[in-house]
Amino acid sequence: MNNAVAGFSKLSKKEKINWIADSYFSNPEEAVSIIRNYWNSDDKLQQLHDEFIENTITNLYIPLGVAPNFLINGKYKTIPMAIEESSVVAAASKAAKYWSTRGGFKATVIDTEKIGQVHFIFNGDAEKLNSFFNQIKPKFFSETQSITKNMQQRGGGILDIQLKDKRNLLENYFQLHATFETKDSMGANFINSCLEQFAATLKEEAHNSDLFSENETIKVVMSILSNYVPNCVVRAEVSCPVEELTEKHITNPLEFAERFVQAVQIAEIEPFRAVTHNKGIMNGVDAVILATGNDFRAVEAGIHAYASRNGQYSSLSHAKIENGIFTFWLEIPLALGTVGGLTSLHPLVKLCLEILQKPSAKELMEVVAVAGLAQNFAALRSLTTTGIQQGHMKMHLNNIINQFEADEQERQLIKAHFKKNAISHSAVVEFIENLRK
Ligand code: MEV
Repeated sequence: MNNAVAGFSKLSKKEKINWIADSYFSNPEEAVSIIRNYWNSDDKLQQLHDEFIENTITNLYIPLGVAPNFLINGKYKTIPMAIEESSVVAAASKAAKYWSTRGGFKATVIDTEKIGQVHFIFNGDAEKLNSFFNQIKPKFFSETQSITKNMQQRGGGILDIQLKDKRNLLENYFQLHATFETKDSMGANFINSCLEQFAATLKEEAHNSDLFSENETIKVVMSILSNYVPNCVVRAEVSCPVEELTEKHITNPLEFAERFVQAVQIAEIEPFRAVTHNKGIMNGVDAVILATGNDFRAVEAGIHAYASRNGQYSSLSHAKIENGIFTFWLEIPLALGTVGGLTSLHPLVKLCLEILQKPSAKELMEVVAVAGLAQNFAALRSLTTTGIQQGHMKMHLNNIINQFEADEQERQLIKAHFKKNAISHSAVVEFIENLRK
């Protein structure tokens, strides 16, 4: 089928749903019923969600869980996590508990500088452009006063603006490269508004300047923040004497520590492994980013660029054994907000921020980095000892049980059986089929 529609955004919600149901389903009533089943029974709340985006037809639920017992910089935190992958919250909670008796997590924000750029083409004398830029630089600050006033009151604002000559990369290409401090907001709107004003000032001043000849023109291509924020970075760390690295699956702590360090080294030098290794870190990072209403696409893009900053995609985390001490840490760039955007609009996001005791953006950076490190620790601990399938299949058992719509009695029998027997998809299916014979 090749379905196109004109004026879709102008249809009512009901008309949109009917169009979808009629166009793509052999049983349109059933499709409408599934869509409606996920509406919130509170009309006002549903309307709030409808208005977050265009053409909303319903809501896609993702479980919101919590991982308690995270000892971070000496304080216990419960971390909200929104994620569909079955083992992630369990792994986070386990790692949290494990490190709570070994000194906990230490997290430090290294810097919080954000970046934005005005990309433009100038076909004239670069020396002249440089003098022109230095002459008009104060105007970039003065002409953004109405935008920066509130941010300055909160201790933020524009940090610096530089002219960058990029002609070695693209003909006549220059940039205004600006840095910002945006305190507890992620700052996207603030930065983009400043940049668009910089662009307007640049064009206006160039037009009025007698430095340039008639043929020397400035043409702005675009003005936009960068989601690559290598100077907005947080570090999270755990460490303990090697002999304290014990638990059920770790009989020889030194052997475990050495294998763990090797696993990290492999991710440092081998991109195929690094991607999966970092994916495990992102399991923790994204879940907290989503739960706190932050922009996970921005965070993902920025973090993976950071993982490639030395020319090859590499591990975000590192580990070492020195003088009998095992240390495991990561550093990631994170541009987060705890005010503005969804943080003040979405009731569940607000609730999650309350669970985190209303953190500042810096505190949230610490929590997110810790969630990433905990997830990475849990994955590497399993991978270097029992393998991950044992834990994964245990969690997956629930999904299979649900898939087969097992009743309570069946549930108990299945769980009891697979406590003692190895879980595989086919073994569970076979067991259920036998039960139902
Ligand atoms: C699965 O979601 C994440 C892992 O693959 C991460 C890793 O391999 O380190 C277990």
